[in-house]
Amino acid sequence: MRLRNIKNAKEIVESHPIVINKLNKDTFDNENPIHLEIGMGKGDFIIEMAKLYPDINFIGMEKFESVLVRAIQKIEEIPHNLRFMRLDAKDILEYIDVKIAALYLNFSDPWPKKRHVKRRLTNKYFLDLYEKLFDKKINIYQKTDNKYLFAYSLSSLSQNGYILEKVSLDLHKEDIPNVLTEYEKKFSEQGILINYLHATKNI
Ligand SMILES: C[S@@+](CC[C@H](N)C(=O)[O-])C[C@H]1O[C@@H](n2cnc3c(N)ncnc32)[C@H](O)[C@@H]1O
Repeated sequence: MRLRNIKNAKEIVESHPIVINKLNKDTFDNENPIHLEIGMGKGDFIIEMAKLYPDINFIGMEKFESVLVRAIQKIEEIPHNLRFMRLDAKDILEYIDVKIAALYLNFSDPWPKKRHVKRRLTNKYFLDLYEKLFDKKINIYQKTDNKYLFAYSLSSLSQNGYILEKVSLDLHKEDIPNVLTEYEKKFSEQGILINYLHATKNI
């Protein structure tokens, strides 16, 4: 998602106290589990999750300042359990120095062309990076409208030793607690079904 350039987006992102450069043991003043969303967009999902689950710490990561600034504009008071990072997931290991408990990939860019397969966030390249962020058990949750990306993710996760704990081709028909993302709202209003998976791997 690229948005029209917002004036001063870089300055706003760099100076806002909800945005951190590095995630380490001092980021939150408790030892609660940390959940990360890569590609948080305008932040509806991660902001709502932080409200619903005060005993979990949430990190929203987004690579474009012009997008992240939209999430920042929704923050009136900084929640004790929510921080943002302006970061491309490919650089994640340089900036995260703690273990996380769950990873959300919501409506990730599908990168349909074969030559871009390595950019898909469930490609082995990224799965290998994520593995280093967890200890003991990896939890990955993905939602997407894109059946090709979904099929790709199922295959890539299976080939890389993950167990598919839950797979749904119509998330909104399931009895699974769910917080809507911006894209999810838009697609559901158009009658498009939402694919969902929860994959785990013991390490
Ligand atoms: C299609 S949007 C979905 C936004 C939001 N998750 C939602 O469901 O409404 C995908 C978002 O992921 C971001 N993104 C894509 N690749 C990324 C990467 N490698 N690292 C961080 N963010 C990324 C894009 O900039 C974009 O904002």
